Amino acid sequence: MDPAVLDRMLQGIPRLADENLLIGFAHSDDCAVYRLPSGELLVQTVDFFTPVVDDPYDYGAIAAANSLSDIYAMNGRPLFALNVCCFPKSQPPELWREVLRGGAEKAGEAGIPIAGGHTVDDAEPKYGLVVTGIVSSGRYWENAGALVGDALILTKPLGTGIITTALKGERIGLDQAAAAISLMKELNRTAARVLSSFEVHACTDITGFGLLGHAWEMASASEVGMEFSYSQIPFLQAALALAADGRYPGGTHANRLFLADRVVDSTGVPEEQLLLLFDAQTSGGLFAALPVEQAESAVSLLREAGVPYASVIGRVTEGTRLTIVN
Ligand code: CO
Ligand code: CO
Repeated sequence: MDPAVLDRMLQGIPRLADENLLIGFAHSDDCAVYRLPSGELLVQTVDFFTPVVDDPYDYGAIAAANSLSDIYAMNGRPLFALNVCCFPKSQPPELWREVLRGGAEKAGEAGIPIAGGHTVDDAEPKYGLVVTGIVSSGRYWENAGALVGDALILTKPLGTGIITTALKGERIGLDQAAAAISLMKELNRTAARVLSSFEVHACTDITGFGLLGHAWEMASASEVGMEFSYSQIPFLQAALALAADGRYPGGTHANRLFLADRVVDSTGVPEEQLLLLFDAQTSGGLFAALPVEQAESAVSLLREAGVPYASVIGRVTEGTRLTIVN
């Protein structure tokens, strides 16, 4: 949802204080973190959305990977999930079975069962998961914590928003969207596992608010600024080609508008290309801040482990702005 609309929607909503709720609304974190009576820390998240691709199996797998991502972004270990299904009854159950199969197989890959769920009849289909997991005390990552001087790492390339929009509009074929689809289906589990052997100061995943929207959440929670090197940011090839004609999803423009006063661009890169930094992503990569001296080794271990696009894309600075340089 448009970040400005979400801000207004949440204004004045009562929030019951609970000393066991360690992470809640305050910094737009990926999951809630709750201390159980046993002392263990529960992490929980929910995510669901309308189809991003036509193939029902792929849609289910992408939605599940996206839901699990919030757990990985906090260095959590998923335990089990529940389905959230809004399916039109006008379409055959076999179609929705394919969506559920995609979700179940992705959960299986993550090593967790889907324990149930809830289904409603809805004209516009939506699917996703509630995921419950655990994190270790002192070992979970949040938006707050990035330190001036830290390096910023991104683990998946940008551009899934503009690509899936073009695919829906039949301006590109499935072959041109294949790389985006396989990346959206990819779990962030390996990326999180590799990063967890480093001193990660803050981490989130890149989804609907785009790279700079989620970077902004981390920067403001951490009370720092950030500088991004445009030339170091990985993009999907098809997205670069599509950016030229500038037909982005509505969410991308909303993200750009929301961040207008917070982003300083000194690159001279054309606006259509710059918009990729605001492009609403589905099941995007992890975005992490860690000590600069660990960054190169983290990136090479990520790449060796099968996260080929992992890159250092910027650094944490003083101030409150997001600056884009060449
Ligand atoms: Co997230
Ligand atoms: Co989420």
